[in-house]
Amino acid sequence: PKPRLVDSFGRVHNNLRISVTDRCNIRCVYCMPEKVEFMPRERLLSYEEIARFVAIVAPLGIDKIRLTGGEPLLRKDLDVLVRMIKAIDGVADVGMTTNGMLLAPMARRLRDAGLERINVSLDTLDPGRFERLSRRPGLEDAIEGVLAAKREGFDPVKLNAVIIRGFNEEDIAPLGRFAREHGLEVRFIEYMPLDAGHLWEREKVVFAAEILDVLTREIGPLAPTPDQDPRAPALDYDYLDGGGRVGLIASVSRPFCMSCNRLRLTSDGKIRNCLFALEETDVRDLLRSDTPDEAVARAVAASVAAKWEGHEINTARFIQPDRPMYSIGG
Ligand code: GTP
Ligand code: 5AD
Ligand code: SF4
Repeated sequence: PKPRLVDSFGRVHNNLRISVTDRCNIRCVYCMPEKVEFMPRERLLSYEEIARFVAIVAPLGIDKIRLTGGEPLLRKDLDVLVRMIKAIDGVADVGMTTNGMLLAPMARRLRDAGLERINVSLDTLDPGRFERLSRRPGLEDAIEGVLAAKREGFDPVKLNAVIIRGFNEEDIAPLGRFAREHGLEVRFIEYMPLDAGHLWEREKVVFAAEILDVLTREIGPLAPTPDQDPRAPALDYDYLDGGGRVGLIASVSRPFCMSCNRLRLTSDGKIRNCLFALEETDVRDLLRSDTPDEAVARAVAASVAAKWEGHEINTARFIQPDRPMYSIGG
């Protein structure tokens, strides 16, 4: 039988999220500090090292891959990496999560390389709020990126919107309407304690139930999608008028840890078995030396085996990891 990455709670891991850089061209308040020191380039895994890692874990059951950052499109010729990963036996699905600002000119090349799915982080449609949230201008480029992805035939194109009280609750309905109009699925995300400034407070989380209320009131009635994937982070809802689908990623009010299938590789070559893990396993040194593939595979399996039950955001025991989201890779 095929070896699998199973943890002590029986969760099978088939989903690998690869951060290709910690750099970003914007500075979202829920993720980055204003002043940030990025990793020296030599610490980042090369495309060859990343592809070697994927080739080692694919036989262990990893078949779904998502490229993240920082902003993944800041890595030069990302389509080259997509091609390398797509060529590996067992890899069924490659996606990318991006802020969209550099996407329009790259969309065709990525599509040609075999990238299938794109998620664009877009928290507002108002230029002023975009600048407040991301501390940089660029809304127009991001929207252009979303539309280019749709035009090039990526399917699905999803929008990710983190909603923070006092910042962008006003955007829930406009984002919902925009997504309906363009045939996109928008997912509204509860703000999690992974910001660089450790400024997260429960009061700032706009809970999924509240978001659902706004959508129902301002756009129209919704019902839970019948063919719900229990392992997906989003709870999906369909508009009763057939106008489309929205998702709610309720990581705080309804954690999906017990069905978690995710493993992460950071841009500097550490395995993280959870977004909120306090310990990591280094594989960069293994990938850069003559270490045999089996030893790398054993390190991955050990990390998965050591995975805890899930985040403890809702308990007094919670400790926020030192690495903020941009450095873990979404
Ligand atoms: P697909 O299901 O393949 O579309 O991807 P995804 O939804 O897993 O990926 P995406 O990068 O778009 O992630 C969406 C949001 O889910 C992120 O912004 C996070 O807020 C949240 N998220 C992703 N992975 C995890 C995770 O492992 N744990 C928790 N609690 N939240 C996560
Ligand atoms: N809470 C929830 N989601 C976050 N993201 C970044 N920081 C946070 C946070 N603190 C999201 C981004 C992007 C994805 C990779 O992670 O919006 O969609
Ligand atoms: Fe998985 Fe950790 Fe995210 Fe829970 S918080 S879903 S265990 S990665």
